Amino acid sequence: MALRKVGVVMGSASDWDVMKAAAEQLKAFGVPYEARALSAHRTPEALAQWIAALERQGAACFIAAAGGAAHLAGVVAAQTTLPVLAVPMPSKHLGGLDSLLSMVQMPKGIPVATFAIGDAGAANAALFAVAVLALEDADLAARLRTFRKVQADKVIATRLPE
Ligand code: RP5
Repeated sequence: MALRKVGVVMGSASDWDVMKAAAEQLKAFGVPYEARALSAHRTPEALAQWIAALERQGAACFIAAAGGAAHLAGVVAAQTTLPVLAVPMPSKHLGGLDSLLSMVQMPKGIPVATFAIGDAGAANAALFAVAVLALEDADLAARLRTFRKVQADKVIATRLPE
């Protein structure tokens, strides 16, 4: 059975430099995704239409990245019951702490799962999306286990300078 799609949305094209880490990770696992720059405040209608279209296509979850006031993930979550994985973008003046606090402090009732600031968070959100999809795909689950093993083997094989 074909894997369900992951919707990847970011508040601005300026977020792509960081969010390409999520796209690359999804690609590495063969997970289909659609990435768009759409903003909660600049393009609210287009955002709503895109979320509805992805739901109609049977998407599994959304990854939403934004910086600063960073309400994008919450706005996405307000319009779908699919899981929303939030990635705080490093911001110009506050280094992304503003983005992190905005995302992680969602009021009770509409949750988003918030990841680390920046490219580690972007990659981890993608890995989490892979884990969600792996619940219903044994091959993907096996690929995720292999990924973990390769990663662990690398750590074990590391020799530090004497
Ligand atoms: C947010 O504002 C975006 O997610 C981005 O992180 C930040 C700056 O956007 P630009 O002014 O670069 O478009 O909405």
